[in-house]
Amino acid sequence: KILILDFGSQYTQLIARRVRELGVYCELHPWDLGEDAIRAFAPRGVILSGGPASVLDAGSPRAPQAVWALGVPVLGICYGMQTMAVQLGGAVAPGAVKEFGYAEVRARGHSRLLRDIEDRVNDEGHGLLDVWMSHGDQVTALPPGFKPIASTKDVPIAGMADETRGYYALQFHPEVTHTTQGARIYARFVHEICGCGSAWTPGNIISDAIETVRERVGSAKVLLGLSGGVDSSVVAALLHKAIGDRLICVFVDHGLLRHREGDQVMKIFAEHLGVKVIRVDAQARFFDALKGVSDPEAKRKIIGRLFVEVFDEEAAKLDGIEFLAQGTIYPDVIESAGSKTQKAQVIKSHHNVGGLPERMKLKLVEPLRELFKDEVRKIGLELGLPREMVYRHPFPGPGLGVRILGEVSPQAAETLRLADHIFIEELRRAGWYERTSQAFAVFLPVRSVGVTGDGRRFEPVIALRAVQTVDFMTAQWAQLPFELLDVCSRRIVNEVPGVSRVVYDISGKPPATIEWE
Ligand code: XMP
Repeated sequence: KILILDFGSQYTQLIARRVRELGVYCELHPWDLGEDAIRAFAPRGVILSGGPASVLDAGSPRAPQAVWALGVPVLGICYGMQTMAVQLGGAVAPGAVKEFGYAEVRARGHSRLLRDIEDRVNDEGHGLLDVWMSHGDQVTALPPGFKPIASTKDVPIAGMADETRGYYALQFHPEVTHTTQGARIYARFVHEICGCGSAWTPGNIISDAIETVRERVGSAKVLLGLSGGVDSSVVAALLHKAIGDRLICVFVDHGLLRHREGDQVMKIFAEHLGVKVIRVDAQARFFDALKGVSDPEAKRKIIGRLFVEVFDEEAAKLDGIEFLAQGTIYPDVIESAGSKTQKAQVIKSHHNVGGLPERMKLKLVEPLRELFKDEVRKIGLELGLPREMVYRHPFPGPGLGVRILGEVSPQAAETLRLADHIFIEELRRAGWYERTSQAFAVFLPVRSVGVTGDGRRFEPVIALRAVQTVDFMTAQWAQLPFELLDVCSRRIVNEVPGVSRVVYDISGKPPATIEWE
């Protein structure tokens, strides 16, 4: 296994994903991880990430001393290279030229890290690599024992190595896809230099998780709030495989789900996989509580509170539950860890059943805590969940409640469900569902005039929204083909009673959020 120390680069999670993709388990920790924790983790290799600071600033982060005392290979990336240089006796200075974006790197000599990895070869027989750079400072003097292994036009030391100790450093970012040979460079480091095998595969992840769960849970019963989303679905499939009938799922139908979503969840889990699922029909309760409420935050609060209440009541009817399972995944864990310097920033709470574990005195089981979303999806497929479910767009906890602007009513929910279903069906048919990150319909309570053969109608409007995004923090509206939008619009006005106007949302985020409320 590999330890990645995070100096705050926006690419650090990508390093972890690249390493995992190579079938090697790794963990990402803040750079100030304790010395004991480092020794206890006992990595086969350490990667020092990039970061926004300058090693020339007073008090800037350094790799813990324990890293150099482990006697294992270390790879420094960008800031990681610079801190390696100053800590081991070299020097760093501000570069005359700052490099951002593409660069061509010349691999020098025959380092184990870069040997025979190249995009092209120049006249002198040096390998040339297309890479992604982003730095201001540069290493100006090598630490004792090091040789240069890469250079660019402006930076004589764009890579360095001490082959004896297995210390390597690169000024560029091999984890970014723009560095075309990046995956090979990481493969070289983790497989050949650190000697890690490729045991981190979906099959092994599942069998490990099953073993861990069985050990932790023993013969106790586990409760899970199943939502139909990717994470809770994979937890359900995994726990069912680990402990069978001792897993009890509660699925709360709040009436704000998508078209036939509740039936599908029951079909897949209860019928197909044989999981014990209690479906609670709480629709009336949610609609009653939402009557007359039109403020978005107030709606969110009511839905959240009721959800916990309903779940809680259902749980109280069950005997002998000792554990609560949750679909926490690795990015949530990393986000709430952070280094001491980052910790001040906001920590998100993802738990939709907050408070329950304490009140019911339940212990937690979080079998996906170590997995990235793409790994969760892969094991979901391996566990037999349908592809359609595993590669679903995200759906917010408050469901259609935040897609019906203003007051939420059962009629509006039904209208929206039908329109949304048509939109999604047509996206899938046209091959656009997987090319968009999130797509849905929104119910607008403004009433617009329409005409049909026998007269004027005065009806609500349906807006369609489809976005493309990597991280959901920023997003572009999807440039869907006009023909596709046309089919959606015609079908919606023809098939959904009470809708005679459809519009397409062409707003980016920022400033427009993905959801309308
Ligand atoms: P926005 O609308 O803020 O959404 O651009 C970003 C992502 O978060 C989802 N979202 C929510 N998810 N509860 C959730 O569980 C919420 O209240 C909520 N609001 C937004 C949204 O669907 C998108 O994927």
